[in-house]
Amino acid sequence: MQVIHTIAELREALVIHRQRGFVPTMGNLHDGHLALVKQARELIGPAGVVVASIFVNRLQFAPHEDFDTYPRTLQRDCALLEAAGCDIVFAPSEKELYPEPQGYKVQPPAELADILEGHFRPGFFTGVCTVVHKLFNIVQPTQAVFGKKDYQQLMVLRRMTAQMALPVEIHGGETRRSEQGLALSSRNGYLSETEKTEALRLSRSLKALIARWQTGERDLAAMEADAMQAMRDAGWAPDYLTLRRQHDLGPAVDGQPLVALGAARLGTTRLIDNLELS
Ligand code: PAF
Repeated sequence: MQVIHTIAELREALVIHRQRGFVPTMGNLHDGHLALVKQARELIGPAGVVVASIFVNRLQFAPHEDFDTYPRTLQRDCALLEAAGCDIVFAPSEKELYPEPQGYKVQPPAELADILEGHFRPGFFTGVCTVVHKLFNIVQPTQAVFGKKDYQQLMVLRRMTAQMALPVEIHGGETRRSEQGLALSSRNGYLSETEKTEALRLSRSLKALIARWQTGERDLAAMEADAMQAMRDAGWAPDYLTLRRQHDLGPAVDGQPLVALGAARLGTTRLIDNLELS
């Protein structure tokens, strides 16, 4: 496996490969990321090249968020990626990817990007779209894989790819969970052992929301308010717990595939999760 830090060297290494699978990450990898790498390998076959990028993208962090403290674990990440079958790791410095302030940005439409995560993290999806668009231009992948744990991110990136006619197929990878059901996330590393147990409440609350819908309740506002209150009672600070349509994240309606999504802070750690219901 090659570890490459510059755009020029990456382009040179990729020139012989037509089929390129790509998994963009911010590092501090866990089994969820490695499953995406394996998925990329399956998609492009043994003859293609699998590239993973590791870049903590300042553009998608608000000033009060954890950009400075986000764990940087390049050596460990590279060992894991090699074992998962990755061929090339692209790990640019900030100066390499943003040699000057990134004035040109990719701005996603408000109806998709200013709701849910985008409402609570203004500018987040502009930062994500900008870096992913740029990484796509650098890697020029034929297939790219993103985790479904970041459900809205996957949707925003799918739309970006379609509207901009980018020549890459976008794939979603299933969320990996601990045995107890905690969605794997780099930010789980911030949790104490007690918090890790308490963290299971988020997916349980989403399950409870789904269960109420399945038993025929349709007062979404009341159901969501109850779910939020239950989280507050348990000491969390929830941003949202909500049931939405899968295809555009509009309010849940009968007869369409739905997804329950939640984001909440436990102590100082903000966790997100989602569960699909077809
Ligand atoms: O999901 C992530 O880790 C990041 O948002 C991504 C897609 C790598 C862009 O920085």
